[in-house]
Amino acid sequence: MSVNKEVKRITTHVLHSMKASGEKIAVLTGYDYSLARILDAGGIDVILVGDSASNVMAGHETTLPITLDQMIYHAASVVRAVQRALVVVDLPFGSYQGNSKIALESTIRIMKESGAHAVKLEGGEEVAESVKRILSAGVPVMGHLGLTPQSIYKFGTYTVRAKEEAEAQKLLDDAQLLQELGCFGIVLEKIPAQLAKRVSESLWIPTIGIGAGPHTDGQVLVTHDMLGITKDFQPRFLRRYLDLFDSIQNAVEQYIKDVKSADFPNEREQY
Ligand code: KIV
Repeated sequence: MSVNKEVKRITTHVLHSMKASGEKIAVLTGYDYSLARILDAGGIDVILVGDSASNVMAGHETTLPITLDQMIYHAASVVRAVQRALVVVDLPFGSYQGNSKIALESTIRIMKESGAHAVKLEGGEEVAESVKRILSAGVPVMGHLGLTPQSIYKFGTYTVRAKEEAEAQKLLDDAQLLQELGCFGIVLEKIPAQLAKRVSESLWIPTIGIGAGPHTDGQVLVTHDMLGITKDFQPRFLRRYLDLFDSIQNAVEQYIKDVKSADFPNEREQY
């Protein structure tokens, strides 16, 4: 199915209609103006300003160090680039857990200072109060269940979650709760495909999978991974569409050669 250019602006209501009509939702992460412009021009439905910026933009090992100020900087850069996509921003670690008043304050800063359209946070029942409070301010909220990277030190590894029945049942319950609270969608990260299918079929709001198989209502990838800018990260679920690391490295090597040999700039490249 091609991009529906009839839709001038993607809203949470458009995403609900897409689920109802069976149209899959395409999501990629974005952190800066230049790449976000290309994603939007390509017709991506949702740009997620993910806290994966902590890894791919800043080189941290986990998503924990990124700050609210840094997320706002990335989000504002993306919003300036976008005409059609819905822009969803991750609430970073420490900006919402355990205190719904702080969660709302963090959200208000994101919405006012970046111009984004929605926020995403990780967890189910544990973050219910924060979800409620943010929604009561009229801000759309997206949930995130399964592998939740902000809890990496609790899990200990980045392996597939909810393989055991008890964890799978909690995930199903959390998904139902997030829908009842009013979330407009839920990211399902690294869970068995059959569980993602059960969750997706049990909800009327869309599920967006990453490493969760083909039965979710949409898919999300980290843009730098699918473009092959990151080289060493090669999980099974990742499909690479380009090998930009190698292409860019080749271009850099050629540029260095041209400068060293005084081939660049030539007479047409000067004033
Ligand atoms: O931060 C992020 O990029 C994410 C996606 C992997 C879903 O949360």
